[in-house]
Amino acid sequence: MASNKKIIVGNWKMNLNVQEASLYLHRLSKIIEIRRDVEVILAPTTLTLQSLSLQVNGRQFKLAAQNFYWRDHGSYTGEVSATQLRGIVQYGLVGHSERRHIFNESDKDIRNKVEAAVRNNIRPILCVGETAWERANGETYDVLHDQLVGGLANITSDELSRVMIAYEPVWAVGTGQNALPTYVSAAVSAIRNQIEQLYGKIAADSIQVLYGGSVTAHSAADYLALPGIDGLLIGGASLNADSFGEIVRKAHRGSLIVERK
Ligand code: PGA
Repeated sequence: MASNKKIIVGNWKMNLNVQEASLYLHRLSKIIEIRRDVEVILAPTTLTLQSLSLQVNGRQFKLAAQNFYWRDHGSYTGEVSATQLRGIVQYGLVGHSERRHIFNESDKDIRNKVEAAVRNNIRPILCVGETAWERANGETYDVLHDQLVGGLANITSDELSRVMIAYEPVWAVGTGQNALPTYVSAAVSAIRNQIEQLYGKIAADSIQVLYGGSVTAHSAADYLALPGIDGLLIGGASLNADSFGEIVRKAHRGSLIVERK
């Protein structure tokens, strides 16, 4: 199941300009310890990635793109490709609920982006999750099925080891609503079962699955303690250095408890 190493991703969304992002990274670097049991990934806006990549200590933080286009080059005004981000970021968010629901990204766009990331040596973090309406209508597992099958359609078994999944119920993202840990556990099991059907048991056990949706320093430990959860995707609480630092500290402690068992 989940490995001892925890992953904490901070998604800054469309916040912080170049100077603010640089100051914030400086602040975080004083607060967050470098430890081998936690990988901390920061996802700032595309605009700030280049300068932060020069400033960041790669042992302390990895960088993720929040978005990118799936073609490598060409006449796509306004877009940035995974090829252009290669060497600047190690990870890329794909299919975040805000991209799916505000920008109408389809499963086809998302599968092309997952493939483009892998092709460009960037690890995709494929986000999946149901809306409030889908949940109320009992469609959660169908949605997870469709988003996983759709998003991973171009990925071979060998390539799957490069992919991470984030379960983010849309109704919990940015809303302050907390999903019950039992609910999250059941959804994460459904995700691993779906991966097993597509790629087999070893892949299902070893794929890293994160949880995200209004996680705070207060609720982080409950989710980190769930079997099958390898880490957290944090939006709002990642913009406060103290909260984010506290979440990372909880991941250290959580990992240590797992290791001692
Ligand atoms: P949130 O965002 O923590 O503010 O709900 C989560 C995310 O951006 O994925």
